Amino acid sequence: MKISVIICAAGKGERAGFGKNKLLAPLNGVPALHYTLCEFDAFDCEYLGGNLEKIAVCGEDDEVTRQFCHAYGWQVVSGGKTRTESVYNALQVVTGDIVLIHDGARPFVTEDIIQECVNCVKEYGSAVCACPAVDTVAIANGGYVGEVPERDNVYIVQTPQAFLTKDIIAAYKKAIASEERFTDDSSVYSRFIKPAKICPCGTPQNKKLTYKEDFENFCKYPTALFFDEDQPKVGFGVDVHAFGKEQDYVTLCGAKIPCDSGLIAHSDGDVAVHAVMDALLSAAGLRDIGYYFPDSDEKYRGADSIKLLERVIEIIGEKGFKPLGLSVAIQAEKPRLSKFIEEMVSTLAKAVDVDEDSVSITAGTCEGLGFVGQKKGICVYCTAVVKEVNTNG
Ligand code: CTP
Ligand code: MG
Repeated sequence: MKISVIICAAGKGERAGFGKNKLLAPLNGVPALHYTLCEFDAFDCEYLGGNLEKIAVCGEDDEVTRQFCHAYGWQVVSGGKTRTESVYNALQVVTGDIVLIHDGARPFVTEDIIQECVNCVKEYGSAVCACPAVDTVAIANGGYVGEVPERDNVYIVQTPQAFLTKDIIAAYKKAIASEERFTDDSSVYSRFIKPAKICPCGTPQNKKLTYKEDFENFCKYPTALFFDEDQPKVGFGVDVHAFGKEQDYVTLCGAKIPCDSGLIAHSDGDVAVHAVMDALLSAAGLRDIGYYFPDSDEKYRGADSIKLLERVIEIIGEKGFKPLGLSVAIQAEKPRLSKFIEEMVSTLAKAVDVDEDSVSITAGTCEGLGFVGQKKGICVYCTAVVKEVNTNG
């Protein structure tokens, strides 16, 4: 089934009072119409493989809006004096079996809403995006409260609205021929075809921008929508420990790896885990491990670094961060590590609570150069990525 969309953009935006089509007025610095077109473009890419027929209806003399839509790759049709005339004009060029009709002035439509309307029209032959009312609605009678419909039956009608193209064309032909006034497509369809099906997928956010204040009040909203505050944060950590402890193993990422000498340290000397901890703390904007686990504190003598790492996860968690991934690079002339990498990855992934795919450990020698090359010690670097999570649940 081929799907078309008509975006109504041929209004003058008189109530908003910008002195130009309100759809060109900026939301967070970008014309409101940009968001509307992009949401349908995204829906098209994701679900329709680029097969959506995209028609924008623009004022005949509104050259800027016409050029704008054209630049976004939309077919442009000239509108009329009323929204009804505009939609009627656009319907003349529609070739899809189903047509979605949407107000350019509702830039906060989502792909989910569009998808629900498409599902609904496929099942019922029509779909009217509607938001269940939260307020009581009264029909005024001479300035007094007249009929008060049962609130459960009251919906705020929004767009998109979707119809079988042949039906809505027939309805609009009759609407244009009549003297009646219509403010949306569902009333045209319901008047001349049959009651249109309510699709209760509307939301308060899918509001129509009508007045100047709507553009100001919504400034906060697009910030949350389009500037992801949960941007990952990156931290880097490095640690070195010297060989010299009388011991026949070293501990790296929790694994006991046979070696002719152990690493000198106040704790268990897990130099890799220390680099990981510093990277995580750094990503969360916190102090280093020496601050949280001072080596002057007897409590940490011989400490299991994996336990300290688990404590670090709690500390960054208290600041609202959760690890996303670790990249660990170990420089060691001895011992050979390759056989232990899997175990190390698994231990680290478990300790920081991420998938094993999100932990990488690489190991290499230093070609005989420097303190690592001379087998005096081991050096480990780590990059950690964390993301901010909602601590309030
Ligand atoms: N619209 C249209 N053709 C018209 C009138 C309106 O395509 N002749 C479009 C508007 O561009 C808008 C949608 O229909 O996206 C809803 O209309 P409305 O919110 O009333 O916008 P305007 O008519 O532009 O605003 P106003 O009524 O304040 O002038
Ligand atoms: Mg209008």
